[in-house]
This record gives sequence, structure tokens and C-alpha cells, in this order.
Amino acid sequence: MLSDQEKTEIETEIRRYERRSAACVDALKVVQRHRGWVSDEALADVAEILGMTTHELDSVATFYNLIYRRPVGKQVILVCDTISCWIVGQQQVFDHLKMRLGADWGQTTADGRFTLLPVPCLGVCEQAPAVMIGNEVYGDLTPEKLDRILERLK
Ligand code: FES
Repeated sequence: MLSDQEKTEIETEIRRYERRSAACVDALKVVQRHRGWVSDEALADVAEILGMTTHELDSVATFYNLIYRRPVGKQVILVCDTISCWIVGQQQVFDHLKMRLGADWGQTTADGRFTLLPVPCLGVCEQAPAVMIGNEVYGDLTPEKLDRILERLK
């Protein structure tokens, strides 16, 4: 069941649009901001508020790769797996990341701190290889630089 705060925030988003359903992505983001991900139960509640079927809303939720339909770690590491990052040898850097965290793509670390998700180009190809953690993009990565970033995030 959605909290009163979530419902209030969703209604605020809905007021920005002519149709309630147009606020679907914003409403899902509200839930994700509060819970870290969007469960089936929460999705059904949001669909009801928006006047959509759960199937319609789930189609939207699963289309956007930044709406998480499964639990994720405290922080999600979005790892660019597109061409510019490949060309500059991201394989070695990201193999190091997976080894250090003990998690593969799509997995969450045993301590629940990080989830590793491959994503298309992060738009900073000139800084390849790159990852995004929270709202921060980190580029020109090396295994050593990644280690320093992870230490800071602890
Ligand atoms: S290809 Fe990796 S940031 Fe563009």
C-alpha cells in the first residue's frame, strides 16, 4: 500500500499533465525514490491512481531501464556497455569491478550496497570508460580509480 506521502507526491505530478496516465513515469519514480524499486503491489496501486491497467503501467515500467522492478542495492552502478567504452578497453576495468564487488551484471553485492547494471551509452564517450552512480558520472576509469571511488562511497 502506498504511503500518504507517496500518494501526495504522485498527485502533485499528475497535476502537471492533462491526462492522469501521462504522469506514469513520474509516478513510478516517486515510488522508486521512496522504496528503491517498484514492487507488483506498488505498481498496482499506482496504476489505480492513474486510471491505467497494471499491464499498461508495467509495459511502461519495463520499457525504461531506470525503473527497477526488482529490489536493488543501496546504490546502483550503471555501467556503460556501448562502443566507445568497449574501444578503450572497458573489459579490464569492469572485470575488476565485478571481481572486487563479487557480483555479476544484474546482481547485488552480498552486503546489499551495490547493484551492477549494464546500460547503453551514458553520453560521456570522451571520458570512456564510464559509470554512473546516483547522479554522478565517473569517467576515464581505471581499476585504481574505481577502487578509490568505491572507497569514497563506503
Ligand atoms: S559509449 Fe560509454 S559513455 Fe558513450
